[in-house]
Amino acid sequence: MDLFGLKKKKALETAQDTQEYLLSEETPFNVREAFNTLRTNVVFGMAPSGGKSLLVTSANQSEGKSTTSVNLAVVLAQNGAKVLLIDADLRKPKLHRFFNTDYTHGLSRFLIGQETLNDALFRTPVKNLDLMTSGIIPPNPSELLGSSRMKLFLEKAEEYYDYIIVDTPPVNVVTDATVLSKIVSGVLIVVHYGSTDRDDFQKAKNQLQMVGANIIGFSVVGVRSEHKGYYKKYYKSYDSYGYGYGDSYRKHSKQSEEGETE
Ligand SMILES: Nc1ncnc2c1ncn2[C@@H]1O[C@H](COP(=O)(O)OP(=O)(O)OP(=O)(O)O)[C@@H](O)[C@H]1O
Ligand SMILES: [Mg+2]
Repeated sequence: MDLFGLKKKKALETAQDTQEYLLSEETPFNVREAFNTLRTNVVFGMAPSGGKSLLVTSANQSEGKSTTSVNLAVVLAQNGAKVLLIDADLRKPKLHRFFNTDYTHGLSRFLIGQETLNDALFRTPVKNLDLMTSGIIPPNPSELLGSSRMKLFLEKAEEYYDYIIVDTPPVNVVTDATVLSKIVSGVLIVVHYGSTDRDDFQKAKNQLQMVGANIIGFSVVGVRSEHKGYYKKYYKSYDSYGYGYGDSYRKHSKQSEEGETE
């Protein structure tokens, strides 16, 4: 399934291009269903820990982290949960673009004490969904994200919101997501169909596990139905919309290493 049925991305992505990926009533039914399935799995995946904050990351760049974060936040909010979406990609922020706003106010400024929560938070047109944009790009993102103020902020936010979805940079490129993974309740790893290398994925997963992150599952984006056999070979357990659990992945990737191709 070519999610959203859009053509290959252009060299320079405009805000309008980005907004086309935001779930709306015009989004094809099967895509909305894919995110509803992801929501169900996330709700169940988070439940055992009782935590509310979920970090979304992937091994490499441009694998669909921001798109997954925003649409997961939307479907959670549509289900009646109070949701805070945080752009913790302080190097290459993107979430503001989905809502046609700018990124200069937000997380980085709040973390250095330049802004209050009121200045840094943005109420989106989606009912129940608030957004904290990245704020100006700081020279020291990892330090800010690993600061005690960030930890306190998440704890405070958990008192008010039902879910906090945190978009981050790729694990194999910078340490930000790894640093943050220690202070959130769960981690969702995005895998891009046909482009995420298995070794890269494994490396990212190992790195997160090494710091004790609670990986609740993985989400596969960009799956085309006509080619799903390829991924079926490796990730037999996920449905045609591309969501699978970490445990299932481990189990089946082991089988595929053993030569099982189904
Ligand atoms: N579900 C999808 N199906 C097909 N293409 C997608 C999907 N989601 C995103 N894309 C395409 O992939 C590109 C990268 O998506 P996105 O910005 O969400 O990735 P990212 O992992 O957050 O990137 P970065 O590492 O730069 O933060 C988008 O510009 C879009 O063109
Ligand atoms: Mg991104």
